Amino acid sequence: MEDERNIVQFLSMNGGDGPLSYANNSCYQKAAVDCTKAMVNEAIINEFDIKQLPSATPYRIADLGCSVGPNTFIAVQNIIEAVERKYQSNGLDSSIPEFLVFFNDRVSNDFNTLFSFLPSGRRYFGVGVPGSFHARLFPKASLHFVYSSYALHWLSKLPKEILDKNSPAWNKGRIHYVGAPNNVFEAYSTQFRKDMQSFLDARAEEVAPDGLMALLFAVVPNGTLPSESFIYLLYELLGFALMDMANMGLVSEDKVHSFNLPIYFASPQELEDLVEINGCFTIKSMIPIMTNQMKNNITILDYNLCILHIRVGVEHLIVEHFGSEIIDELFNRFSEKVAAESQFVFKQDYLDNFVEQFVLLRRKVT
Ligand SMILES: C[S@@+](CC[C@H](N)C(=O)[O-])C[C@H]1O[C@@H](n2cnc3c(N)ncnc32)[C@H](O)[C@@H]1O
Repeated sequence: MEDERNIVQFLSMNGGDGPLSYANNSCYQKAAVDCTKAMVNEAIINEFDIKQLPSATPYRIADLGCSVGPNTFIAVQNIIEAVERKYQSNGLDSSIPEFLVFFNDRVSNDFNTLFSFLPSGRRYFGVGVPGSFHARLFPKASLHFVYSSYALHWLSKLPKEILDKNSPAWNKGRIHYVGAPNNVFEAYSTQFRKDMQSFLDARAEEVAPDGLMALLFAVVPNGTLPSESFIYLLYELLGFALMDMANMGLVSEDKVHSFNLPIYFASPQELEDLVEINGCFTIKSMIPIMTNQMKNNITILDYNLCILHIRVGVEHLIVEHFGSEIIDELFNRFSEKVAAESQFVFKQDYLDNFVEQFVLLRRKVT
């Protein structure tokens, strides 16, 4: 076994508000959050029954995997405005509840930056909840609306087999399952299934009967091969850049063998199956989101933005594993590879094979 540590404990988006921060490099995610505004509104109009919230009870919202902002504040505001509108349209302006918002992320998240960005005119009480959403975070039946965007593709840990030299799933010389034997893909997919089951089990305890859960996933269309999606091809190029550095003696080859990205992009069908298996939620809607226009703009005008988006997400993991001294050179080499392969990687078909999926779930009443 190369590396027994769970690298995922070091996962966090780049903090602060500098040029390489998540706060300044998440416009792609923001575009999708903006697209979901109408869906969140409709979810609350159609699915939230005012009578179920006893008077004087705060409406409790949790954003799971909120990172450092600003997207979380936009998402939370969308939910609150939708609830307020629901009361107003029922002539119940004076009964609008107070709002309590739980901002959750891993303990390694830069909560200081998150709190420093809290909007000054907010109409809610905000609480930070550090910890993994793959386990219980809240009291039973305490949440009315759970939201999570772009977070559930992060695995809770790397599958053991991919780090085991004696396993057929050992992922030698690669950092992800793109370009790998099927065993590697299977190991990732099994870990994702376990993680989603833990996530849904925990939320089934925490979401109040009839409570809502709006999840925004980055997905690949049903049946997509890893080699047919631009995001995977970018990960592959990042792996090639690392292997080049290993071949030149700039990083240890063993270290490359034991480094893997804890990321899995499911298909809509897999998500649907997992919700069915859990059995505690009804799927109210599954809507693909069209941010392709945005993607095209990014890639055609400036694929460096794409590279930056990847960097702010994985830099912490790379630095933890290899040390900070390699990071600039690695990303320079990665950029050169992306530039050389851009016609191929950013083909329209490959862009279309990485999309977003809005999933609205309602907690069943048992
Ligand atoms: C790409 S960011 C998305 C942030 C924000 N939701 C948005 O849409 O801009 C993913 C976030 O999920 C968090 N995350 C990943 N796994 C997590 C876990 N098991 N528990 C809590 N947060 C997690 C990461 O730390 C990261 O901040």
